[in-house]
Amino acid sequence: MPLPERRLPLPAVHPRPGLPARVRIWEVGPRDGLQNEPSIVPAPVKAQLVTRLAGAGLTTVETTSFVNPAWVPQLADAEEVFSLLAPLRAGHGPRDAQHPDLRLPALVPNLAGLDRARSCGVRDVCVFASATETFARKNLNRSRAEALEMSAPVVAEAKADGMGVRAYVSMCFGDPWEGAVREEDVVSVCDRLLEMGADELSLGDTIGVATSGQVVDLLGALARAGIPAARLAVHFHDTYGQALANTLTALSCGITTVDSSAGGIGGCPFAESATGNLATEDLCWALAGLGVETGVDLGRLAATSAWMATRLGRPSPSRVVQALTGGGRTAQASGGAG
Ligand code: HMG
Ligand code: MG
Repeated sequence: MPLPERRLPLPAVHPRPGLPARVRIWEVGPRDGLQNEPSIVPAPVKAQLVTRLAGAGLTTVETTSFVNPAWVPQLADAEEVFSLLAPLRAGHGPRDAQHPDLRLPALVPNLAGLDRARSCGVRDVCVFASATETFARKNLNRSRAEALEMSAPVVAEAKADGMGVRAYVSMCFGDPWEGAVREEDVVSVCDRLLEMGADELSLGDTIGVATSGQVVDLLGALARAGIPAARLAVHFHDTYGQALANTLTALSCGITTVDSSAGGIGGCPFAESATGNLATEDLCWALAGLGVETGVDLGRLAATSAWMATRLGRPSPSRVVQALTGGGRTAQASGGAG
């Protein structure tokens, strides 16, 4: 007798008014997740992670960073990762991972990074700036204004080459050194990045301190400054467990692009107290329950994160991954990355 098919539990669907019909997920796990790992994950494992995420239906997978390798040794193998992904990008990867619209963006801080990315055939790049002075210095070794202006020629050259350009703004909701962040500082950095020619902005809650009312207030300030929700994404880290609540609030304010990290891995090596991003599985579970389309196969995604947890040697922090797969709870016994 054939075994009954094991069915994945799925949430009951109860749509609510005021939410988008579809959310575009910008997966950041391979970059934001792996940049903060104590161990260096081998390039073939990174390439396999990206391929499996594409196979789970994620169409934008931020792959790596072309930053100074002395600053982020975890991602010093960016060229090797892109070369391993060449078959996927050429449409010759596993059949299920082939999307005509698959995008594999990479972080670039300066023209040296852009040149490296271009030599790998990267078509989408992300520059990054800070709303606060201290984090600009910690993360980019420049004042806030200098760090911002380092992005200007990168955006100009990338746009001239027909690339897609996203700009991150870090510390939009609070800074571990400076405390509260003024909305007008976030607005002015966003204005400058759009003036440079960035296609879209991602509002970073780098240390995961935002609360829902604050999200409404900041999005309101940006709207009043003439920056439409359609040009914005939200990027919540989950330090205080508020990332999902903050994301749902942002969706009710008109945001339709959300950053998240498979398995909830992540953090920033240059920001005290930064933890992992909103887990993509937790986001997909909540959106499935609200009847919001993501195009993601939750079972395959959770299996990918459980597999990655075994490579990292510790369980995924995502409650949904734990519920659906046993969580990589077995991961603790299985050694380090590799
Ligand atoms: P610097 O030391 O001031 O750089 O770092 P420099 O311009 O003075 O150059 C120093 C050396 O680095 C030179 O080599 C350069 O060629 C080399 P040398 O002459 O000494 O042999 N160099 C590079 N090599 C390879 N690729 C490059 C590159 N640039 C310079 N791109 C720099 C300035 C911006 C480069 C450095 O501060 C850096 O790499 N910072 C990156 C920090 C980082 O990756 N942080 C994590 C990502 S941001 C984040 O996680 C937040 C986000 O998730 C949103 C949120 O959560 O808020 C996006
Ligand atoms: Mg981040």
